[in-house]
Amino acid sequence: MKKKGLFITFEGIDGSGKTTQYNLLRGRLRRRGLDPVCVREPGSTVVGEEIRSILLSSDDRPMTLLTEALLYAAARSQLVREVIVPALEGGKVVLCDRFLDSSLAYQGYAGGLGVDTVMAVNAAAVRGIRPHLTLVFDLSVSEALRRERGRKADRIESRGAEYLQRVREYYLELARKEPDRVRVIPAARDIAEIEADVYREVSEGLAALGIDGRG
Ligand SMILES: Nc1ncnc2c1ncn2[C@@H]1O[C@H](COP(=O)(O)OP(=O)(O)OP(=O)(O)O)[C@@H](O)[C@H]1O
Ligand SMILES: [Mg+2]
Repeated sequence: MKKKGLFITFEGIDGSGKTTQYNLLRGRLRRRGLDPVCVREPGSTVVGEEIRSILLSSDDRPMTLLTEALLYAAARSQLVREVIVPALEGGKVVLCDRFLDSSLAYQGYAGGLGVDTVMAVNAAAVRGIRPHLTLVFDLSVSEALRRERGRKADRIESRGAEYLQRVREYYLELARKEPDRVRVIPAARDIAEIEADVYREVSEGLAALGIDGRG
């Protein structure tokens, strides 16, 4: 099955600026005449949003790490089939705020479930779909905590700084292993500077696929 579109994912620790840059890129691509399909994980399908509310609810519903990983994979499976594959087959640019790498980083590596286990749980869910470009917004845990203060510090603090440090390390190692797909974007800078870097990376990806948005 030929994939004609461009699949771009946004990764990084909590508070690293993913959603900020995702929104800015969406605006830029629209102004360029493209009509990007924009989704977030978990969610962006009816069942996926229901799974999201289970996963992100703050009550202390006991859940094993494996259950959590399976729920993320279930939401992802629905998103891949219902939205991402059809969009790519239609030649669209797809922006996804978090994807498989988040599960590998959070539950697999930092959480201790194991990257191999999380990959196995997700193999059927992603059905071979791999991002063409993954942007990792790299920020120190202390700066991320500072930015998030007052917003949802509770969730982050409940995970702990050490946990997020491991997530950050996983992403940096991933970028070393898959330099063609994964680009580290230093995120301790002005929003506009980061946006320019993101747009440069994405423009290269679009050019490589012959998508210019004006034709
Ligand atoms: N370059 C930046 N400099 C300073 N503050 C920023 C920058 N980018 C984003 N912020 C602010 O930091 C906070 C977190 O940003 P954002 O929500 O984009 O992060 P995120 O990676 O999507 O977080 P989460 O993983 O929790 O969804 C927001 O209050 C945002 O306005
Ligand atoms: Mg976000």
